[in-house]
Amino acid sequence: MRTKLLALAAVLAPVAAFAAGGEAKLDHANVDVTNRASLQRGAANFVNYCLGCHSAKFVRYNRMAADLGLSEEQLIANLMYTGERPHDTMRIGMVADDAKRWFGVLPPDLSLVARSRGADYLYTFLRSFYVDPSKPTGVNNIVLPGTAMPHVLWELQGVQEAVWEGHPDAQGNVQKHFKEFKLLEPGRMTPEEFDGFVRDTVNFLEYAAEPAQLQRKALGFPVIAFLVFFTLLAWALKKEYWKDVK
Ligand code: HEC
Repeated sequence: MRTKLLALAAVLAPVAAFAAGGEAKLDHANVDVTNRASLQRGAANFVNYCLGCHSAKFVRYNRMAADLGLSEEQLIANLMYTGERPHDTMRIGMVADDAKRWFGVLPPDLSLVARSRGADYLYTFLRSFYVDPSKPTGVNNIVLPGTAMPHVLWELQGVQEAVWEGHPDAQGNVQKHFKEFKLLEPGRMTPEEFDGFVRDTVNFLEYAAEPAQLQRKALGFPVIAFLVFFTLLAWALKKEYWKDVK
């Protein structure tokens, strides 16, 4: 038994060591896809600040409007600026070759990014840009070091720098660890307002990754309640039918 445990520990040790290293700590996004006001704000944020570079090609405008409780007029007036039609999906005009030239990489489609990365990752990523003059964009990111994405929300968040602290490792080399952010220049929003802005945006991406989840979640409870009710009914019926047979 002990040898087995030791063998298991030996196999898992590198994994544990890897998990302990470098990875940034993620903050909780606390999104709520049933909060329509938040989803509506998030959709507007996405259209205004992200759709210039990122498509969401699985999100259809009119389906989104219906899910978010917007009329077609509200949809066209508030979320559609570039002459798309309501049954179009969220595509972008940027040509792939241009994007490659400008950023070195293609900004990824964000339809499913909440699925692949998780809401907490997105929430932390969007709040973790810091000044780094050595980068072409002038910023770096704690969550995705060396990212090609510029800090598109800097006017809202302001400009922050990263504070590092050093820990000597077993060999005596000092390892730099991220400690905290320091706001150098405030943005148009307070930190709390900015967190709310990002939370709404991530909430929208969470919705976009599975638009049917609103219906799925809304349907779940009545369906289970019906099944429970029906089970009781069937049981009562069975008792009634068999009561004289014994
Ligand atoms: C000016 C263009 C531009 C805008 C505007 C922009 N991004 Fe990006 N974004 C990029 C580029 C380029 C990348 C690829 C970064 C990389 O791979 O290093 C990227 C990558 C990402 C990623 C993937 C990160 C990962 O882990 O791979 C997410 C998520 C993201 N952006 C979210 C957003 C959101 C949300 C907005 C709107 C608030 C936004 N972006 C606005 C250019 C942009």
